[in-house]
Amino acid sequence: MITILAIESSCDETSAAVCADGKILSNFIANQTIHEKYGGVVPELASRAHMQNIVPVVDAAIKNAGCSLAAIDAVAFTRAPGLIGSLLVGGQFAKSLALALNKPLIAVHHMQAHVLANLIDDPKPSFPFLCLTVSGGHTQIVLCESPTAMKVIGETIDDAAGEAFDKSAKLLGLPYPGGPLIDKFAREGDHTRFKFPEPQIPGLNFSFSGLKTSILYFLQNAGKSNLYKEEFAATEEERKQFIDNNLADICASIQHRIVTILLNKLKKASIETGIKDICLAGGVSANSGLRKSFEEMGKKYHWNTFSPAFQYCTDNAGMIAITGYYKYMAGQFSDLTISSTARAEW
Ligand code: KG4
Ligand code: ZN
Repeated sequence: MITILAIESSCDETSAAVCADGKILSNFIANQTIHEKYGGVVPELASRAHMQNIVPVVDAAIKNAGCSLAAIDAVAFTRAPGLIGSLLVGGQFAKSLALALNKPLIAVHHMQAHVLANLIDDPKPSFPFLCLTVSGGHTQIVLCESPTAMKVIGETIDDAAGEAFDKSAKLLGLPYPGGPLIDKFAREGDHTRFKFPEPQIPGLNFSFSGLKTSILYFLQNAGKSNLYKEEFAATEEERKQFIDNNLADICASIQHRIVTILLNKLKKASIETGIKDICLAGGVSANSGLRKSFEEMGKKYHWNTFSPAFQYCTDNAGMIAITGYYKYMAGQFSDLTISSTARAEW
């Protein structure tokens, strides 16, 4: 039996997991609530919180799995991409542990791990499959040929889908991270009520910055137009009133546009590659509107659709553990001189 201990610390979640022969035995996540009052993740505070959390989180993952450090065959960790200070905490800890235990070290790419979260539970997609990875920092369509061979065939040229949700929420006066709140209000709303433009980006790439600007103008004009026009400019009081009276419909309309931008490109990718095993991944895949439309599109185009359980959608070490397991099987180890990095090629 191959047992992997995995550590994830790329952003603001400190997480550790244990997997044995590809089965997750524990997946422990410590969320950092300190960032809420700042309206976004503060890197320095994230690093400090990781330093406080890492030992108890690893300890809890080992205990919850019912194993001991002596039973670990390798230590996997998120090497990139992410906040460098955060990555360094998990990376240094993983290296020290591997050295102390005299076990191999496995460096994992965070975005590949989001994709492979789809291999944790049954039913699993068959290779090759496509994965739409949507998170706070990334929006990608990935063609996955094997657990260790994947390539990005489309990605955002500006904001990520999660950022589009969070920035829209901020414009509506909602707290960070606003994505889940837009999802919640959208459930009661009518998505046909307001129209936001779909960007015309060639190929399989995405863009969300135009949408953000159009929402900004729309709110500045208290819903009278998506374009900036002096004569439509509303007072602060009128804007607030407009948002209060129409929050559910505004959220539903914004969510609908983000979801259609994502799924129209995914449909294009399926047609171009001929691949019909299609997965979702990343924190935004928790969005109920996206999941529903994804399933509907899957039925219409005869796709086999997959999405990880919620705990494996947002940042977690379970996905690092499963990726570590496949890298172990492929003999892909790193030596102790490897360094964490904020950005990295696949
Ligand atoms: O993958 P993730 O946990 O962290 C990153 O690697 O970025 O994704 C976090 C993002 C945030 O932007 C958050 O607002 C978004 O996922 N998110 C959602 C929902 N749940 C999380 N966005 C829309 N609807 C949701 N239900
Ligand atoms: Zn992530």
